[in-house]
This record gives sequence, structure tokens and C-alpha cells, in this order.
Amino acid sequence: MTFSGSQLTAFEAPLLGVNIDHVATVRNARGGRFPDPVAAALLAVEAGADIITFHLREDRRHIRDEDVQRLKAHVRVPLNFEAAVTDEMLDIIERTAPEHVCLVPERREEVTTEGGLEVAGQLSRLTEACARLSAKGSRVSLFIGADPVQIEAAARAGAPCVELHTGALANAWWDGDQTALQHELARLKEGLRFARSLGLRTHAGHGLALSTNLPIDDPHLRLDTVSSTALVAALPDVAELHIGHALIGQSMFVGMRQAIADFKAEAIRARR
Ligand code: PXP
Repeated sequence: MTFSGSQLTAFEAPLLGVNIDHVATVRNARGGRFPDPVAAALLAVEAGADIITFHLREDRRHIRDEDVQRLKAHVRVPLNFEAAVTDEMLDIIERTAPEHVCLVPERREEVTTEGGLEVAGQLSRLTEACARLSAKGSRVSLFIGADPVQIEAAARAGAPCVELHTGALANAWWDGDQTALQHELARLKEGLRFARSLGLRTHAGHGLALSTNLPIDDPHLRLDTVSSTALVAALPDVAELHIGHALIGQSMFVGMRQAIADFKAEAIRARR
């Protein structure tokens, strides 16, 4: 299933890591068991997801410990376990032994992962974490900005992969800010190129969306706007994309007709 960055060609699509966190967000809004993120992961795999990505946050706001165990038991494509570099998380990752790990920064008060990891400033801690998780057989990726200092530090820490944060690019896309978008795209391309030159496998993700995800009265974007997903997927150095929020949001729109038909049919059958 996995292949090295050096085998990538411009004609191979990046692998898609489907992040299921927000299925759990909806479940947790009611405190019950539905919708089940593990059932969503199985459907995602059936639909073509190459990797199932999830983030176990310190505050367990979406994915919970029991979800991790059930994902491990049921999912048959590589799991990509995103977590902060804390002793608690490193212990859980070791016990879970996922195929892939992505170490991310985490601030309790943030809505989502706002920036990349500060690798250069905590090189010995990250070197230790990479060695510890690699020894357990997990492939480690560091989630960083497209910053040469952090990319070089990631290589020195011994991580075989980096995931470059596309949040600023995605925000520029939503805002229709062409200058910022072109700037972020150039920065991403340069970061990918530099990381690959150091022998790193390169991934990208955060905030990526489709042009069909537009709010109906959006002043900047149109259906024929090239999507932020396409802008990043087109870059040949991107071996994997990790997408969550907009993909789960899109599922509501492409799935809503069927869901309404199912509930209507149920109500009709109940009266027969
Ligand atoms: N990659 C990483 C490392 C992340 O932390 C996240 C968010 O959990 C994503 C990708 C996906 O971001 P989004 O949910 O905005 O698509």
C-alpha cells in the first residue's frame, strides 16, 4: 500500500488519508454512539480511502481512547495516528502500534491545529520520540510549516516524513486572496522541494476543500474556481494528502438526499 516518495511520478495521484475526527465531533455533540467514527472509517475504506487518519487530542474532544482501539481492531488500511508529543500520547501510540504516526503541536484552547511543530527548538525531544516510535514499527511524520529551518530539523530528528501545513494556503483560498494564495503555493512548493532534497517523504494537509464546498453567497469563490485540494494535489512531490473537515462536511451534502429519502421511506413504511 505504501510507496516511497522517490517512486512518485507526476501521474500518480497522492494517497488520500481520510480524517474521521469530525464524525466523532458530531457523535459527541449528543453523547451517544452515533455516528460511529469506526463505521465511518470502514465506509471510507470501501470508498477508496488509502489511509485512515485520526487525532487523539489531550482533551478527547472528538476521537476517544476506545475509538482508537476499535479502529485498530477493524480497519484494514494503514492507520495514521496524529498526536501531540506528550508522554501520555507516546505511551498510547506505542501500545496501539499504528502503521503511521503524525506528531503535531497542540494547544488546548485552539479550535484546530493552528500551526506546525516547533522541531528546531525541541530537537532532542523529537529525536527521542521519532526513535522510540520507529523502534515500535510506526512510520513517523512531523507536521510542520513549509519553513526550511523546521524541515531541516525534521530530517535531523530522524523522521522519514514531513506533512506540510496547508492551513494558510487554505485560508487564502477561502478568502479569494490571489496574492496570498500564490505566495503560499510557492512557499509550499519550495518546502516540498527542499524536504525531498533531504530524502524526506512529503505529505500535505489542513483546511483543504472542494469548490463545491462554497457557501451559497460567497463573494470570492465560484464553482469553477480551482479547489485548494486540486492546487495541492497537483504538486508532484505530495505523496499523501490528509483531509478531514471539508470531506466530512461534503459528505453531508452528497449524502443528504439519500438520508432524507431513507427517513421518509421509514415513516411511510410505518403507516402501512
Ligand atoms: N493533517 C494534520 C496533521 C492535522 O492535524 C489535520 C487536522 O486534524 C489535518 C491534516 C486535516 O485538516 P482538516 O480537518 O482541516 O482537513
